[in-house]
Amino acid sequence: MAFNRTGLTNDIDRVLFTEEQIAEKVRELGERITRDYAGKNPLLICILRGAVPFFADLCKCIGDYMEMDFMAISNYGDGMVNTGRNHISKDVSTDIEGRHVIIVEDIVDSGRTLDHLTRLLNTRNPASLKIACLLDKYKARAENISLTPEYYCFPVDNEFVVGYGLDYAGAYRNLPFIGVLKEEVYKDEQ
Ligand code: IMP
Ligand code: MG
Repeated sequence: MAFNRTGLTNDIDRVLFTEEQIAEKVRELGERITRDYAGKNPLLICILRGAVPFFADLCKCIGDYMEMDFMAISNYGDGMVNTGRNHISKDVSTDIEGRHVIIVEDIVDSGRTLDHLTRLLNTRNPASLKIACLLDKYKARAENISLTPEYYCFPVDNEFVVGYGLDYAGAYRNLPFIGVLKEEVYKDEQ
């Protein structure tokens, strides 16, 4: 039977970044990180769950020694409303003191999640701490937060996007592209 994901893609208003465009940007980013961290054996921390596809692809594009670890932090509830609360439900298992750490996240929106996370991780004295994110919603930063990811693949406007790890109410993470949801899918919530 032919592969079919019509039901899922019917909810998408338009595609922002195709699978091919994402793959190309991720490869470029992997090459950049490989150069920037030569001989440093960086520790890449995947922020669960949204960063999983990006993290897996990015790591495969890094052509030098590196290590992986995982953290879970949430502040978005189930839908689109940012509650502003940060809750770490899974911490890293690695001692990051003296390590070159790269936080890998799906999207920086208000910046609250990563602001909280970088403050916390900095108290553990890493040799360096940088952020690699797939998407930068740079116009959405909270007033008191001036956080700029050192590495990102695409800037995006203030629209709610899904796919390639990004979810709405837990769904759409498995889409291979990034797209904007049809309004009718979430209008009951607003
Ligand atoms: P921030 O703390 O406001 O920067 O929010 C970051 C988190 O909000 C991300 O890790 C995502 O889980 C979620 N988020 C922000 N914008 C979107 C979006 O457009 N689609 C899906 N999730 C989003
Ligand atoms: Mg997230």
